[in-house]
Order: sequence, then structure tokens, then C-alpha cells
Amino acid sequence: MSAKQKAAEAAMKYIESGMIVGLGTGSTADFFIIALADALRSGQVRDIRAVPTSKQSERRAHELGIPLASLAQCPLSDVTVDGADEVAPNLDLIKGLGGALLREKVVAQNSKKLVIIADEGKVSPGLGHKSPLPIEVTQFGYETQEGFLRSLGTEPKLRIGPGGMVFVTDNGNYIYDCHFKAGLTDAIAFETAIKHRAGIVESGLFLGMASVALIGSEGGVREMKA
Ligand code: A5P
Repeated sequence: MSAKQKAAEAAMKYIESGMIVGLGTGSTADFFIIALADALRSGQVRDIRAVPTSKQSERRAHELGIPLASLAQCPLSDVTVDGADEVAPNLDLIKGLGGALLREKVVAQNSKKLVIIADEGKVSPGLGHKSPLPIEVTQFGYETQEGFLRSLGTEPKLRIGPGGMVFVTDNGNYIYDCHFKAGLTDAIAFETAIKHRAGIVESGLFLGMASVALIGSEGGVREMKA
């Protein structure tokens, strides 16, 4: 079993019958969706409603028979289980390499608990050391964001999809993946700066949001707490 799968299956301990569960996006979250579907099928848990964070997770949950709900129907999830691209020691995160950062953040902010599942490769001494920071921008005027993001000390790269076209998010926006030469030293200041910029929709910075991270490795799963 892969480290990602171990972490995903360990997250089932946070799931109880009757819960509303936010479903993350990505390969690790997909293992969790499978584990949740198996648990529903075997009767280990009942009466779950799931709020997906992307069209991809919605499709997967639907295929596997997990009952889905919208935020309008279920505005507050009991727990959201999601992957991450970088996990700092204080559980600050970078997310969004899968492109679902905006919906992931909306669902996570409307959850009582955010459980992160990842492998050891995602654990980092500080943000921006291992992963670029994805920033979702409107298509209108997107070109103007490049210079702005550079002025904040990043090296932004417009994300290109597998077909060679500019990657478009579920929300119809583009993404700049922002690289930091020496890591992101002041994530709060960076977040504040981009919040004041029109056309920047959201960043993949998840600061102070995760309650726990389950980190899978060959040896098992360890738990990091904020
Ligand atoms: C999706 O937009 C991301 O936030 C994912 O959670 C992240 O990219 C982790 O993906 P993997 O589980 O595939 O590594």
C-alpha cells in the first residue's frame, strides 16, 4: 500500500455516521474517497453526505455511490479531508497544484475540522521550499498580475494544461504558480498584499486552517498537530 493510501485510510478514524464530509481533490484525496465509499458499502458508516471541492472529486464520489450535497444544502461540514502540496511544521499549507484551491478553501473554511492527508515528501521546514504557490486569477487582465507577483518577490509561471493550452480552473480562471528562491518568509504579509489586488481570486496558502495532518510513509502513519 502506498504512503498516500495509508494516510488516506487513517483519516477514516475521523468519520462517523451522520456526518457531512468535505471531499478534497488530488491523488491522496482520491484514496480517501475510495475508503469512504468502501466504508459506506460495508455499513461501517451510514448517512454520510459529501461536499466535493472540485468537479473531479464530485465525479469520483458519484461513480462510487457516495451521496453528494452542495454548500447550499450543507453549509457546514463536520470534517473535510484533503491533500496538500506542502505541510509546514505548524500545519500551514500550500495547496492547489491540482488546481482546486479556491473550492478547497471555501469548503475547508466551512468545516469544523480540516484533516490533511499526505506522504512524507510533502513535509517541509517552511512554506515555498518544496512547492510553488498557486495563485488563481481572473482571465480578464491576467497578464497584469505577472509583474505584480514579481514585485512581491516571486517568479510567477502561468500554468499550462496537459494539452498545451492555458490551464482553466473549475471556476473559469487561470493560475500562476509562484516560485520563491528562498521560501516564503512572511506568508501573512504576502497573503495580505494579494488580498488587496483586484483580479487575484485566491491563493493556495492555507494558514492556521488544518487541525491535524496524517503523514504516511513506509513505516506507517504519523500525526502532526498544530
Ligand atoms: C488540489 O488542488 C491540491 O490542493 C491537492 O490537494 C494537492 O495537489 C495534493 O495532491 P496529491 O494528493 O495528488 O499529491
